[in-house]
Amino acid sequence: MCGIIGAIAQRNVVPILIEGLKALEYRGYDSAGIAIIEKGEVRRVRAKGKLVALEEELAKGSCESPMGIGHTRWATHGVPSVNNAHPHACGDFVLVHNGIIENHQLLKRDQSQHHFESETDSEVIVHLLNDLSGQCDGDLFDLVQKGIQKLQGSYALAVMRTTESDSVVVARHGSPLVIGLGVGENFIASDVLALLPVTSRFIYLEDGDVARISTHSIEIVNAEGQKVDREVKESTLEVGCTTRGEYRHFMLKEIFEQPVVIGEALEGRLSNIKVLDPMLLGASGTKIIELTKRVQIVACGTSYHAGLTAKYWFEQWARIPCEVDIASELRYRKPVVSDGTLLVVISQSGETADTLAVLNEAKSMGYVHSMAICNVPESSMVRGADVSLLTRAGPEVGVASTKAFTTQLVVLAMLAVSLGRRFELTSDFEENVVNQLKQLPSAVSQVLALDGRISILAQTLVHKHHALFLGRGPGYPVAMEAALKLKEISYIHAEAYAAGELKHGPLALVDEDMPVIAVMPDDDLLDKVQSNLSEVRARGGRLLVLTDHDHLEEDEYTTVLNIGTVPKLMRPVVFSVALQLLAYHVAVLRGTDVDRPRNLAKSVTVE
Ligand code: M6R
Repeated sequence: MCGIIGAIAQRNVVPILIEGLKALEYRGYDSAGIAIIEKGEVRRVRAKGKLVALEEELAKGSCESPMGIGHTRWATHGVPSVNNAHPHACGDFVLVHNGIIENHQLLKRDQSQHHFESETDSEVIVHLLNDLSGQCDGDLFDLVQKGIQKLQGSYALAVMRTTESDSVVVARHGSPLVIGLGVGENFIASDVLALLPVTSRFIYLEDGDVARISTHSIEIVNAEGQKVDREVKESTLEVGCTTRGEYRHFMLKEIFEQPVVIGEALEGRLSNIKVLDPMLLGASGTKIIELTKRVQIVACGTSYHAGLTAKYWFEQWARIPCEVDIASELRYRKPVVSDGTLLVVISQSGETADTLAVLNEAKSMGYVHSMAICNVPESSMVRGADVSLLTRAGPEVGVASTKAFTTQLVVLAMLAVSLGRRFELTSDFEENVVNQLKQLPSAVSQVLALDGRISILAQTLVHKHHALFLGRGPGYPVAMEAALKLKEISYIHAEAYAAGELKHGPLALVDEDMPVIAVMPDDDLLDKVQSNLSEVRARGGRLLVLTDHDHLEEDEYTTVLNIGTVPKLMRPVVFSVALQLLAYHVAVLRGTDVDRPRNLAKSVTVE
């Protein structure tokens, strides 16, 4: 939700800001802007729409400076417009902000002398700094430390002042912020990806930190105002890890990366017969699962669907009691936490506000231990959890989560086994799961080979307004994930139902214009799903059935997509890949912006 960037150097930083904003565009893309200080004055260039609109604005004249800040926005307060685009300015100050200032209305009441040019919550911060500068002494660093005392909510912000052209000041509370270290130049951004072209050395700020960034120095104080040194970390990510290569969209590239990244997620974590706990969980994780009596999974969106799938594994494979909740619900529902409950948060980004809030409140809610399953090693969740399991999918740029989801499933399957051994999971079963996990990369490649067929099937959905997805057992969360994927990128209204629920209401929707997509693995529930599908056929409904059953006949109502021989316990992974491709091709045929669907952002760092 919004990306911020800043740079201070001995060269023109505007191209660095723009390249960085391109890498941050996944965080929001309804407007963008940059600010520089030129001849002692703030100069802002802002544009509504995607970054390309800002580039067009910049191309109209020259814009160069050794110091600047930039922002790409995902609107929360106020429509996408130039006035609402950051940076916001007042007097000597200019600022970019990611997060939400919850008490902005209260603060605004004290700022009646100011003209507000935007409807954003962020603008109050810049007026606040301007007011403080008239009330007390101190430089920008001091003023930001004072100013943030008055803010409630979450923020990562970067501020410049025309009278102090030797530093940018940043602050972080609840929204991610990194400092990139260069030689005679330094940078800040919401995400390391934005700074990879200029550095691989980073400092991850902690909540409450305020930092002064100059060309040759970094000064950091913590929430108590004490000077602190934060560790410098070397990133292993490479420049270009977020380019599309030969693919038309990031989403397609990321779908096709799945055989490789699933292999990465498994790498070193399995023997021939076992999940290797020390490699998967580390020493502290191994100790924690010894104490675990039940599991509470918390997540949002696609990650929530990974959790729902894993619930079947925890319960069916090992009889581990497992609950799964949407983070924004669990957060406010005061759950009764039984003794020995392990809180497992799942998140691609590790920054999703609701999930992070649950993690941060875990101890006070009564969870003794917490675990993060996450794709971003330096994320807030990885740093906040007692133990973390990395999914190793590599940067995921497409807003629609694909490889992050399937690698979450892979890690959850391994966790179910490690934990399950302490419950009722036998060593034979463990060996079976291990074998099937190892078959996954090739099983996924086999599904990817169906891409051509799936793109043809997509044509039958392209003019539809609605779609119904059905599944039972672990096929149900797979259907939920498929419906989310389709609606998110094609804008076709899609819903998922447990197939057994069809006759309790949704059957009323079925006619020839309501395509029904069934997830029908060749498992114990196959006959049950078959009967549910007969109910659809009897109402003239059109079915697309995904199955690994070899002898399923097509008829005038039914199209079958056979996805081949599949490692049975890992069906949710393989079926999901086929459904990702289906959603992708429908969206492409409908001409939507697949990687940056309207109204969404990749990283949801606001509540
Ligand atoms: O980063 P997270 O996994 O915590 O994100 C959660 C959701 O915002 C995310 O999965 C979202 O639903 C995706 N856009 C779905 O494709």
